[in-house]
Amino acid sequence: MKKLRTWPGLVAALLMLLTTLPLQAAQSDTDIEKRIEQLLSKMTTREKVGQLALRDWGTYSREDMPAIKQAIRDGKVGGFLNVNFSDVDDNAFAELQRIAVEESPRGIPLLFGQDVIHGYETIFPIPLGQAASWNPDLIRRGARVAAREASADGIRWTFAPMIDISRDPRWGRIAETLGEDPYLTSVLGTAMVEGFQGDDLGDPSSLAACGKHFAGYGAAEGGRDYNSAYIPERTLRDIYLPPFKAAVDAGMASVMSSYSTLNDIPGTANPLLTQQILRDEWGFDGFVVSDWNSVMEMIPHGFARDARHAAKLAANAGIDMEMHTDTYEHYLPLLIEEGEFSKRQLDNAVANILRIKLRLDLWQHPYPRAGNAAAREKIIRSDAFLAEAESAAEQTFVLLKNDDQLLPLRKDQTVAVIGPLAEAPHEQLGTWIYNGDKKYSHTLLPALRQIAGESRIVHAPGLAYSRDTDRKGFAAALAAAEKADVILYVGGEESILTGEGHSRGDIRLPGAQAQLVAELADTGKPLAMVLMAGRPLQLDETLQQADALMMAWHPGTMAGPALADVLYGEKSPSGRLPLSWPVGAGQIPIYYNHMATGRPATDENYTRIDEIETGVFQHQPGNSSNLLDYGHRPLFPFGYGLTYSKFRYSDLELSTDEIGADDTLRVSATITNTGDVVATEIPQLYVRDLVGSVTRPVRELKGFERIELAAGESRRVTFSLGADQLAFHNAEMQSVAEPGEFRVWIAPNAEAGLEGRFTLR
Ligand code: BGC
Repeated sequence: MKKLRTWPGLVAALLMLLTTLPLQAAQSDTDIEKRIEQLLSKMTTREKVGQLALRDWGTYSREDMPAIKQAIRDGKVGGFLNVNFSDVDDNAFAELQRIAVEESPRGIPLLFGQDVIHGYETIFPIPLGQAASWNPDLIRRGARVAAREASADGIRWTFAPMIDISRDPRWGRIAETLGEDPYLTSVLGTAMVEGFQGDDLGDPSSLAACGKHFAGYGAAEGGRDYNSAYIPERTLRDIYLPPFKAAVDAGMASVMSSYSTLNDIPGTANPLLTQQILRDEWGFDGFVVSDWNSVMEMIPHGFARDARHAAKLAANAGIDMEMHTDTYEHYLPLLIEEGEFSKRQLDNAVANILRIKLRLDLWQHPYPRAGNAAAREKIIRSDAFLAEAESAAEQTFVLLKNDDQLLPLRKDQTVAVIGPLAEAPHEQLGTWIYNGDKKYSHTLLPALRQIAGESRIVHAPGLAYSRDTDRKGFAAALAAAEKADVILYVGGEESILTGEGHSRGDIRLPGAQAQLVAELADTGKPLAMVLMAGRPLQLDETLQQADALMMAWHPGTMAGPALADVLYGEKSPSGRLPLSWPVGAGQIPIYYNHMATGRPATDENYTRIDEIETGVFQHQPGNSSNLLDYGHRPLFPFGYGLTYSKFRYSDLELSTDEIGADDTLRVSATITNTGDVVATEIPQLYVRDLVGSVTRPVRELKGFERIELAAGESRRVTFSLGADQLAFHNAEMQSVAEPGEFRVWIAPNAEAGLEGRFTLR
């Protein structure tokens, strides 16, 4: 294969001349549709079915290579997923692609896809962490970096963004989401699409995005991955679907179906989702791919009898491309012969895929962008990309508690760095890191030493890893604490405790961490805690024992320097929670935009379990919607986060107190940094529709802004709220804004803020 290394350039040039002349001028939609027609008119049914096949590289071995190559040569493969080119040699992409474009019947290039979820080789914070930045620009830039790196290796399609809404931190994949809110997820998910796809999908450094998992995957019962989702149509349309709709409107190239069932129908064979909503209602013209093996999994679901039946169900529901399994290859031609799937349907599916391949301009750019190792070296983990990852990480940390302003640390303090994650190069990367490599991780310990000096930092992990229950390291940790002015505990969850198939029923700090923290707190030294985790954790007494708490998620390659800068106040913490942080697992699901009940809980009517007398018939006034032990509030609300400063909200003003259906209301308030350091505040716009034809959420996020204010500085923020933003699905399932009274808030989080009122005529 070695001599092939000179081929790609030549072949690409030749192909450009021979096969893509009509495309060179402009890739207009009409050109693309014409080209699709031309191709379809020449392709055999076998070749068409071949375009629908997405083969999984990971399931092959070296011995399979000749057969794979032959399949490509025969036009039986449309693309590959998760090719690890080091498995074969550093030109695997180029070689497979060469066969496709030179030797297959129509020369249609292969599409290489991968789970580029939060970075390719430069790993950014996990998506849930990125969401905590509330910064679409940061997310766009991060996705751009990932696209530039991945495309260097020939990858032109990523299985991201994951825009599933989830209200369940037990679910391991919540780490991959952008949180619980449809508006925040829409804004951030769209930014991710824009970052991956760039201004032009045809730019060789762009990736086609893939919104997943369609739909309702994040509502898996009990947080058990792959489990059933039961979502009423209104909730589906108002909460779970808006991020997909927004991404489709932004030009997202593909959509992945969900493993799970939605109201008892698998996502892989659900015409309501992949035909009616996606195609007919939204006009999506990209392609839909199944999830990995999900076509065949309809058999254990008890929905398909066998592979033939599964192929028939998926293809008829509008799943264009089959990931990993080969039921389409085996059965679609047969199903067509027997009249159970039509040639027109097949052409449609192929056209959807070719459309994206053409928009990606794969004919002109079929080969890895980098071409050779030296060029690749210049792109991958460049200084500029590492700097982007570091600045992204800095904006994702959420300061949740800071008694007596323990943070920022001072350089004249001796700090005892304790806990299993201060020096954990792999764990800080988080879930879904195909190419991420811990050997490039910048960890916290050296970064702290660099800022404060060697002598100011003492280190004893206490526990070897997050689940460690062996207390043999406690003594050394306590001894280190005794020598220090401040304890910095860095713990949380290993990355393997989150992600796909890695849900937890008990979301407390794993291992003996809570015991270690308790013993450290007993020393009486001030204790600051940094949590790295893929989900909010149940904190129990640990929260009282820590004087300060910073949620760092899994921050990625540059975790160390980013955290150290924020801990020492060189940068200020600016993240806000993208989800409600539960008191305990038993409070899940808890989310800010819940519906009103007939007995809403308030702080006044909420009775604590230890206040109840024994032997009484009924305790009053405790019968409201709450839990005796956990109350009615989350531990920290959606949108919450502190800074090293303080902010005051004042002078709420509405441009009018009544708007009509075509009007826009402007809502303003003054935000003042009343502290003495520069800091970032994220004012949030919420509304409540007081009376509806169906019950309405107690609050809904409708806008937000990140503003940095110097000490003492004030700024007026103004949000525009169009009447159309007040729409929801009514009793007849029509999207309408109903006339009536509304509350509106400009707020630092979902539980606070300045309140105003207006009426919609
Ligand atoms: C996951 C998808 C992922 C796919 C390909 C599946 O198991 O659910 O999110 O994109 O694998 O790796």
